[in-house]
Amino acid sequence: MSVEDLKKEFWNRYNNTASHIFYCPGRINLIGEHIDYNGGRVMPCAISRGTWLALRFNTDRLFRFQCLNFPETIELEIRDSYSAMGKAWYNYPLGVINEILKQGQALEGLDMLFYGDIPIGAGLSSSASIEVLMAEALNKCFALNKKGTEIALIGKAAENHFIGVNCGIMDQFAVANGKKDQALLLDCETLDYEYFPFNLKEQGLVVINTNKPRRLAESKYNERFSECRQALAILQRSLPVNNLCDIHPGQFEQYKETIEDPILVKRARHVISEYARVKDATIALQTDDLLVLGKLMYASHHSLKEDYEVSCRELDVIVEFCKNFKGCYGARMTGAGFGGCAIAIIDRKRFEQFSRELVANYTDKIGYAPEVFLTAAEEGVHQLL
Ligand code: GLA
Repeated sequence: MSVEDLKKEFWNRYNNTASHIFYCPGRINLIGEHIDYNGGRVMPCAISRGTWLALRFNTDRLFRFQCLNFPETIELEIRDSYSAMGKAWYNYPLGVINEILKQGQALEGLDMLFYGDIPIGAGLSSSASIEVLMAEALNKCFALNKKGTEIALIGKAAENHFIGVNCGIMDQFAVANGKKDQALLLDCETLDYEYFPFNLKEQGLVVINTNKPRRLAESKYNERFSECRQALAILQRSLPVNNLCDIHPGQFEQYKETIEDPILVKRARHVISEYARVKDATIALQTDDLLVLGKLMYASHHSLKEDYEVSCRELDVIVEFCKNFKGCYGARMTGAGFGGCAIAIIDRKRFEQFSRELVANYTDKIGYAPEVFLTAAEEGVHQLL
């Protein structure tokens, strides 16, 4: 969406000129899945799809929400606080407004028009994107002077308290602080972070959307969150740790018998082994070793499938195809799972062939086509106008 096109759409809807335009990307996670709420480090990057917001102040003391992707619109008088209204899309930006109001910040009326090209609910953080977009727009329009990390925390708080998903900080942080041609290495416990060059030239980063509608993803996500808490509480009887990610694989082998429930053993094993893979992947990226990174991605997928049980047939079909495709370094599901997207690193010159054969193979097995597109590490949230 170009700035000019969005301005035109804004004019059509509000009969006035947009004064500000903001953009926030989505994200993929290279490795470190279901690690952020277990106190470890993750390796996401912002991508080349995102969400736009055009806005203008109004003197009516109203928040007007419109979106090019959804027919529902709403006008709300400025109040001290709000509660979520059903499952409507505007709960995401409204949750952010609510968080800012909770901080005692006075706001003025806004006419807003949103548009996004991130597949919605597909594991590419369309929700974090719109949350961080709203937070940054308020930050700039009302001179709140907040840094990227604070913006990310406001987005997360909206998701946790308003939307009701116990998500960690990874998504909001990645889309707030992403950098072009860099992957983030974020410590989800301390929120310290660093950037790693991730500028593929001969290779390409591919996103494959299963196009599978995600059902029960939120409740299953919250279930995994609570299973990790239970496993941690049991291990803490023997080990002086704060998080599952503080436990080394060797220690886990020694103490896993203290967990009676075999399901909890599997959940903890995924987290602890995945965190070891993040550490190895850090070295692989530092040494530009995509073959090692690719192997770690396949191992990550296997663990998410067998131990964490958040994959699905559609994602597995994609990853199996990738394993057999010459020129693919590695692939895995990305994000929460239960459908959504996989990522792969492939030789760039083989992209057309990869895409064609994958679409045919997947459609044959699943009955409908996936979406396949090349992406790259991109800049986090920013103002366009
Ligand atoms: C979702 C959550 C993140 C993270 C991932 C899994 O995207 O929003 O906080 O837990 O799942 O890694």
